[in-house]
Amino acid sequence: MSNWTPIITLEEIPQLGSRVITTDTMNVAVFRTAKDEVFALRDACPHKGGPLSQGIVHGTSVTCPLHNWKIDLASGEALGPDEGCANVFPTKVEDGMVFLGLNDQSADVA
Ligand code: FES
Repeated sequence: MSNWTPIITLEEIPQLGSRVITTDTMNVAVFRTAKDEVFALRDACPHKGGPLSQGIVHGTSVTCPLHNWKIDLASGEALGPDEGCANVFPTKVEDGMVFLGLNDQSADVA
């Protein structure tokens, strides 16, 4: 079961960009698309751990800055010929505040 944790306002995330949230155990990249959809992935590419938060967002995917793998923001799956999956976390936006759904394994936001 998820615990909804308020983490950041929508306005603090640049459109087509991201902000990094630090939890006890990992960095989570929170992305905002051109349509103000919000997605959260572990900030580690399934290829070699590149910082997805520094990638370029297009549509609902992000291109890893290291070797250009394209990662689907909703599923965390690599697109095209590449295979791998980044951890994804549920998000919701209420009254301009972004909430992250953390489960027991992902611990608390620092
Ligand atoms: S580490 Fe992301 S594509 Fe290689």
